[in-house]
Amino acid sequence: MADAGIRTEVAVGIDDGLIVAVGTMTDVERELANIERSGDSEYHAQCEYIDCAGRVVTPGLVDSHTHAVFGRPRYDEQELRAAGAGYMEIAQKGGGIHSSVRDLRLRSEDDLLALTRARLQRLARYGTTTVEIKSGYGLSIEDELKSLRVIASVQSEANLRVVPTWLGAHEIPQDYRSGPDGRRRYIEQLVSEQLPTVAREKLAIFADVFCEPGVFTLDETRAILETARGRGLTLKLHADELEPSGGAELAAELGATSADHLAAISEAGIAALASSSTVATLLPGTMFFLGRTRQAPARALIESGAVVALATDFNPGTSPTPNLPLIMTIGVSQLHMSVAEVLLATTVNGAAALGLAGSTGQIASGFSADVALWECEDAREIPYWYGDARCVATWCRGEPVHTA
Ligand code: NIG
Ligand code: FE
Repeated sequence: MADAGIRTEVAVGIDDGLIVAVGTMTDVERELANIERSGDSEYHAQCEYIDCAGRVVTPGLVDSHTHAVFGRPRYDEQELRAAGAGYMEIAQKGGGIHSSVRDLRLRSEDDLLALTRARLQRLARYGTTTVEIKSGYGLSIEDELKSLRVIASVQSEANLRVVPTWLGAHEIPQDYRSGPDGRRRYIEQLVSEQLPTVAREKLAIFADVFCEPGVFTLDETRAILETARGRGLTLKLHADELEPSGGAELAAELGATSADHLAAISEAGIAALASSSTVATLLPGTMFFLGRTRQAPARALIESGAVVALATDFNPGTSPTPNLPLIMTIGVSQLHMSVAEVLLATTVNGAAALGLAGSTGQIASGFSADVALWECEDAREIPYWYGDARCVATWCRGEPVHTA
């Protein structure tokens, strides 16, 4: 990850949604002329030239972990935490995820769709062209399906690429907490009804579980994810976010595509990820917003050979930011990553965290034309002007997504 392959004086040729040439202007012109010779005689006249001189072009950013389908924002909890309340303490009193669940269940699909659509536009403003979105604030069959249908709708109507994840195992819902075996009954409902329905209706690519002491145990996580894998879903885990509990080791063992959070990962967890192809997705905005000082050990992970990605974790409770470049800033300033590392972590490795490493996240021939243009003369300015919106335009599959 030391070398992001930054080059100067480069032109990029795009045709039919794909990058077809990267090199000097002459190289690109030659490649486009080849395409013209093999087809449409009007082709050259239709070409559009965009002068990017004095600016930076990167792959469109990949935000590989968000919870963008929710209703009411939870700014009340931010103040409670400032006054000393803990994240888990707020959740145990019926706030946190439960509060978002109560709210989402009362909302119509159209209402959630309008909210989610507007949020994607905000994410896009900061350079993101691929976004993973999880369900997880429904926690009943009908409300999880409602959330996943919202994700399917934005997937079909938005210009950016949307990757859907089922997170029915985000929490044990309050309506299953009364009886002695409520927990067991909810997990039974997940594996025998929710997951099969989600898989049958093809509403998700990934299945995710919040594996954390006080939420889902290691054994429960394993049972849920093994069922998901059996139903054809690929796997993700919220692992070792607040306490080390073997989540990273389980992710590696199950061959999960990514293990996410990892602020409390153990030495054994680092070793397990380093010797696997599971991507370590770090979400430092979450620790920042929760006011916690411990951040994921990015240096140890990178130096041991793990694949490290960065994402926003955009959600109403622990990370309400759509700004992925701000996460790069935290990566450099708090996780001691280099600029090359944070650029790769939000492009190439973010794509790997979504199983898309062969098609997006790089400016290279054959890759999807997912490109971001920045009001910067040097790539190091992207994490430097922190909180600023320096992205002036993006394209996904060659089509414009965002223009400043
Ligand atoms: O990734 N860790 C679990 N889920 C979310 C937050 C959920 C919430 O508080 O609404 C996260 O941090
Ligand atoms: Fe999350």
